Amino acid sequence: MTPLQRALSAPKAELHIHIEGSLEPELAFALAARNGIQLPYDSVDALRAAYDFSDLQSFLDLYYACADVLRSEADFADLMYAYLLRAREDNVIHAEIFFDPQTHTARGIAFETVLRGLEAGAERARAEWGMSTRLILCFLRHLSEAEAEATLEEALPFIDRIHGFGLDSSEKGHPPSKFERVFARCRALGKPVVAHAGEEGPPAYVYEALDLLKVDRIDHGVRASEDPALMARLAREQVPLTVCPLSNVRLCVFPEMRQHTLPALLGQGLAAMINSDDPAYFGGYLGNNIRALQTAFDFDDATWKTLFANSLKASFVDDATRTAWL
Ligand code: ADE
Ligand code: ZN
Repeated sequence: MTPLQRALSAPKAELHIHIEGSLEPELAFALAARNGIQLPYDSVDALRAAYDFSDLQSFLDLYYACADVLRSEADFADLMYAYLLRAREDNVIHAEIFFDPQTHTARGIAFETVLRGLEAGAERARAEWGMSTRLILCFLRHLSEAEAEATLEEALPFIDRIHGFGLDSSEKGHPPSKFERVFARCRALGKPVVAHAGEEGPPAYVYEALDLLKVDRIDHGVRASEDPALMARLAREQVPLTVCPLSNVRLCVFPEMRQHTLPALLGQGLAAMINSDDPAYFGGYLGNNIRALQTAFDFDDATWKTLFANSLKASFVDDATRTAWL
């Protein structure tokens, strides 16, 4: 077996996947038909052809538009099950899945409809092959902190079913400091917290996520490589970075995979790992990310082992489960 084959077949965790970003065009059209919705594209191919992004915002515009086909509990269940079925092919044994309730509640979909649907899809995968999942509620950072607080209020009746909180959407101009108070409330509820930082935003946003939001992991964090003091701190404190290589190339954070900073992050001892982010939009699930990295960097077995161990170690499962995996 080659290092690539061993990497593909290794058991692994995925800690950075937006469930709305796993909506494949085929499923989008099927749900549009089921719900009597007209998508602004004639065909699956026409929609896929629109996946040509120049930056994060150009992607988010399409991502939010497509999410409109998600209406019923069954739609969210089908979305979740489809992702988990696909993740299983890449030997993902555990997935911590982001969802964006504000994208749905703003369209009149009840918070409970979203949550129950996602849980039903996850429960089906657990019953069928023992898939392990956690749900992380993300606040949309282009909206206000007051709107995040209102979403937290909506989530409180279901708080035992939400395993953590995150921060996503348009990064530039929306620093972590904007959400300091609501994150303090999430932490006071005893929940782990994460935030996208240093994807398109500057290293200063990574410092804010660490110092003001007191996050347990940084999502992306690749721009930390511009700041040697930050790199040293992330290495010293072993802050997990949920890096998403294909996403970074497709959103033009790096012009091509060979310029990705993942080897530099690993080389300096940071606890980085790989994830798919929005696999339906970025050309691939975890396996596709592995193949693209191997083509660019020809990683050895030890590097793959480190990447997969870093994600299992950084997962929000109990210690006994984590120890059994490692
Ligand atoms: N929402 C979905 N994907 C995202 C990304 N890559 N960055 C920020 N917000 C997102
Ligand atoms: Zn993301």
